Amino acid sequence: MFSRKCFPLFIQFSNRSFCAFSSITPEIRIVEVGPRDGLQNEPTILPASTKISLINQLSETGLQTIEATSFVSPKWVPQMGDNTEVLKGIKRKSGISYPVLTPNMKGFESALLAGAEEVAIFGAASDSFSRKNVNCSAAESIERFRPIIEAAKKANVKVRGYVSTVIGCPYEGQIDPKAVAKFVDIMFGMGCYEISLGDTIGVGTPGTFRKMLDEVVKVVPAKKLAVHCHDTYGQALPNILTSLDYGISVVDSSISGLGGCPYAKGASGNAATEDVVYMLHGMGIKTGIDLDKLIDVGKFICSELGRQSESKVNRASRR
Ligand code: HMG
Ligand code: MG
Repeated sequence: MFSRKCFPLFIQFSNRSFCAFSSITPEIRIVEVGPRDGLQNEPTILPASTKISLINQLSETGLQTIEATSFVSPKWVPQMGDNTEVLKGIKRKSGISYPVLTPNMKGFESALLAGAEEVAIFGAASDSFSRKNVNCSAAESIERFRPIIEAAKKANVKVRGYVSTVIGCPYEGQIDPKAVAKFVDIMFGMGCYEISLGDTIGVGTPGTFRKMLDEVVKVVPAKKLAVHCHDTYGQALPNILTSLDYGISVVDSSISGLGGCPYAKGASGNAATEDVVYMLHGMGIKTGIDLDKLIDVGKFICSELGRQSESKVNRASRR
C-alpha cells in the first residue's frame, strides 16, 4: 500500500487538473540566497556596488529574507571578500532579514561589527565534505558553533542553521538519512531557529528526499525546516514540491538559478527563485513576491555576470 506522501492525488475538475497536496501551507517564505550562494561560485568577482544594487533590487520584490554575503576566509572564497562593504552598503528595508554566513567566531565578530542581525552557521552530514569546506570534521564544526550561538544570544542575533549534503556527498556518495537526522537534531538543539536542508550537489530525487525527510521530521518539526535544493540533475522543483507536502514552508532559492559551492565539485546552481515563485503562484500559494520585478532583477544580475539565466521562467519572459 502506498502512502499519500508517495503519490500525491491528481483530481480532474472539468478540464483542469489539481494536485491535491493537502498538507501544503497556503503561504511559503522564500529565502533568497543569490547574493551569497549565487555569487560565491562565479568566476567573475563583481564589485561590491553591483552586489549592493542586487540586494537593494531584491529588497523591492517582496522577499522577506535575503542572504547577503558570508564572513568566511577571503583566501578560501575570494568572491565574498567584500562582505563588510556589502553588508554596510545595502539599504535595509524594514521587515526583511539579511542573514550572513559565519563559519567561526572570527566570522561572527566581523559580521556583528558590520551590522548583522541574523547569521547562519553551516555544517554537513558528511565528514569529508565538512573537511573540504571548512577544514574540520563535522563534530569539530559543532564545537565551533557553540560559542557563536552563545555570543549571538547575548547580541540578540538570530541564528539559522544549514546542514549540507543531506542526500549525497561529492566525496562519500550517498548519505544515510539517519545520519542527516542526527546532525539536524544536534544543530536544532543548539538553538538554531530553523534548519535548512542542503542538497549541496543536487543529486536528490523525490524518492531520496522522502527517505531523508521521513527521518528528519522525526526529530525536528517540519515548521522549523527549510529546503535548499541545488538543481544539478533538474530535480530541484520536484524535490521542493515533495518537501512542501511534508509541511515545510520555507524554501531557499537563488535569483536566476545562480549558485554552487566551491568545495562541492560538479554542483550546479540552486533552484531559480523565478521558477519556484512561478510554480507556487500557479498552485495558488502565496509568497508575497512580485514575479515581474524578480524577473527584472534576474536579467540585471545575469547581464552583470555576462551569462544566461538558469531560470526557465526568466528565459521564457520576453519583457
Ligand atoms: P582555516 O584555514 O582552517 O582557518 O579555515 P584558521 O582558523 O586556521 O585561520 C587561517 C587563516 O584564515 C587566518 O588568517 C585567519 O585569520 C583566517 P592568516 O593568519 O593566515 O592570515 N580566517 C578568517 N578570515 C576571515 N573570516 C573568517 C576567518 N576564519 C579564519 N571567518 C574557514 C577555516 C572556515 C575560515 C575556511 O575553511 C573557510 O573560510 N571556508 C569557506 C567555506 C565556504 O564559504 N563554503 C561555501 C559556503 S557553504 C555552502 O555553500 C553550502 C550551503 O549553500 C548549503 C548547501 O548547498 O548545502 C550553505
Ligand atoms: Mg548551497
